[in-house]
Amino acid sequence: MNEKNLQSTDSYLIDSDAEMLRLERQAAIYGTADDLTHLALGAADRVLDAGCGSGQITRTIAAAVPQGRATGIDREPRYINYAQRRAQAEGSHNIEFVEGNLLELPFENSSFDVVWSKHVLQWIKNPAAVLTEFVRVARPGGRVVAANFDGFLLQHFPEDPVVQSNIQRWFDAAKAEMGFDNWIGRKLPSLFLGAGLTDISIHTLPDKAYSGLGGDAERQWNMEVQWNATRAFSARLFGSEAAALDVQRQFLLRFADPTVYFHCTLFYVEGRVAG
Ligand SMILES: C[S@@+](CC[C@H](N)C(=O)[O-])C[C@H]1O[C@@H](n2cnc3c(N)ncnc32)[C@H](O)[C@@H]1O
Repeated sequence: MNEKNLQSTDSYLIDSDAEMLRLERQAAIYGTADDLTHLALGAADRVLDAGCGSGQITRTIAAAVPQGRATGIDREPRYINYAQRRAQAEGSHNIEFVEGNLLELPFENSSFDVVWSKHVLQWIKNPAAVLTEFVRVARPGGRVVAANFDGFLLQHFPEDPVVQSNIQRWFDAAKAEMGFDNWIGRKLPSLFLGAGLTDISIHTLPDKAYSGLGGDAERQWNMEVQWNATRAFSARLFGSEAAALDVQRQFLLRFADPTVYFHCTLFYVEGRVAG
């Protein structure tokens, strides 16, 4: 099938019933230390977690701001419902979850001390518009902090040329169809400057969920869930369900190989709101 004929969608392509559990388990792979270091929160901060998914990181933030408040927003009602139930079960007192679109945040200007967003901007066709919203809802002197990958699944060694070319084809199609940006990390500094943010700081780390030699069961499961959730897209791209399964199987074998290193960079970028 011609890649141009792929059906257009504006949805979160890896959405599935397994997604909330996947996000919880992915957050456990990362651990909380790197996010909290880069968030550098004060105990009374009001923090927005933009595109909060299952709310795992929102709960971590709430615990770090005992005199403040953590607000998670996501446009998927199922995730918001799950996030609310998990937070309630854990007895968090300073947390709330709101359903909404990052392009039109349902908050007054200057509502937050810190706006945080992890692994979301790659899904947004116009990330500059979302950053403008982040700046609007952060108070003057407040901060915007984003964590995003750069080169997700695109680098491995020793390289299998078939796996490499399938992955490249998949991301080219995802970019053409829905604007998915696999190189969003390196673009954050420029996007932050374009949104008027100042005092930009940039840190990069190997992305723990997507870098390493094969053989880690959690990382493997995380990849498998994402391939399963995106099967319909892969089937349209590669021509059939069977062809998509074959591409998936070859990739997962490579990703599981303890002699093969996959690399992905995680960017943490912070900027200050003028004023
Ligand atoms: C990869 S998940 C990341 C979730 C969470 N930040 C984390 O790191 O675990 C991306 C999330 O962004 C949400 N999302 C994507 N586009 C959105 C939009 N325009 N408005 C609100 N949420 C959005 C999706 O529903 C999904 O929950």
